[in-house]
Amino acid sequence: MEPMNRQIRLKSRPVGMPAPADFDAVDAPMPAVRDGDVLRRTIYLSLDPYMRGRMSDAPSYAAPVAVGDVMCGHTVSEVVDSRDPTFRPGDLVTGYDGWQQYAASPGKQLRRLDPAAAPISTAIGVLGMPGLTAFVGLVDIGQPKAGETVVVSAACGAVGSIVGQLAKIRGCRAVGIAGSGDKCRSVVEELGFDACVNYKTDDLVPALQAACPSGADIYFENVGGAVLEAVLRVINRGARIPLCGLISEYNATENAAGPNLRPLLVHRAMIKGFIVSDHADRFPAFLEEVGPLVRDKRIKYREHIVEGLDAAPAALIGLFEGRNFGKMLVRVADSGR
Ligand SMILES: NC(=O)c1ccc[n+]([C@@H]2O[C@H](COP(=O)([O-])OP(=O)(O)OC[C@H]3O[C@@H](n4cnc5c(N)ncnc54)[C@H](OP(=O)(O)O)[C@@H]3O)[C@@H](O)[C@H]2O)c1
Repeated sequence: MEPMNRQIRLKSRPVGMPAPADFDAVDAPMPAVRDGDVLRRTIYLSLDPYMRGRMSDAPSYAAPVAVGDVMCGHTVSEVVDSRDPTFRPGDLVTGYDGWQQYAASPGKQLRRLDPAAAPISTAIGVLGMPGLTAFVGLVDIGQPKAGETVVVSAACGAVGSIVGQLAKIRGCRAVGIAGSGDKCRSVVEELGFDACVNYKTDDLVPALQAACPSGADIYFENVGGAVLEAVLRVINRGARIPLCGLISEYNATENAAGPNLRPLLVHRAMIKGFIVSDHADRFPAFLEEVGPLVRDKRIKYREHIVEGLDAAPAALIGLFEGRNFGKMLVRVADSGR
């Protein structure tokens, strides 16, 4: 039987929370391989909250996925055929191939991976886009100084878990905010944060005051809404707020009322939005610092791996329900490594 290319395509634009019916699983023909192309088989697919934005046609910083197109996403793949002399079958690469088993395009769009340097899945996690996001937001925008207190929301997730550990390595107090007792325990006991507040069960403002006895100098914002409102009550004069994400609002059908911004004024605080793709120039500095920290296990990471491409829609929805414990990945094929 001819090999086919299993794909997950966007079927309809969701209203509110995405549903499995917004996706279509299709067996498409294998991609054509032209001169200069590299054909590869996806091993890992990254699932990330920004994908909700790509499913919508509301104006944003990137174009939406067209209805009927393959869903986008970062991937780790194995080269199976190459018409580019710089790649050979068996090479491991990272690219942006989306929710499909196979892809073919020019090799210059790929970055070769060394499986001896780090587990290949890390190229789309702690040593990839989420790790770089943590690094740019904390180091470049937050500018942490030893002795300061750094608060981060979605603290158990792909970005937040790295933010707190980098803050600790820089001599800061790290305080997480997460959505379950298990996640909070992991953030403190496994990742080494000083404290973690459960935003679902704790009385947020008193819990943050207790966790931040000297107030918050940096708030790395991942969620927005009531959590942002509460953290603004404990910020210090001159606080910095790298605005990384607002996941609590991604499925909203109406604009959020928004928190009261008066504390930003009173405390001369700075809030700055950023998009990691504008900071690709920081990738070498990030890898130079964080690569050895991961290798020496001074930065720990957890991956939440679901099996098989067809599991991707439910897993993406799970990101908005807090079902992931660490970086959400799909194992599309076994690499044997
Ligand atoms: N600016 C950029 O360039 C950039 C790049 C990458 C990521 N981001 C943003 O960074 C944030 C974290 O991304 P990630 O990849 O690290 O995801 P993640 O934290 O691994 O997974 C998402 C987590 O968000 C939390 N969450 C979901 N719905 C929530 C809600 N309504 N209120 C509060 N928390 C909620 C859940 O954790 P709990 O169980 O703790 O609720 C969930 O596990 C997202 O906002 C994402 O869009 C931005």
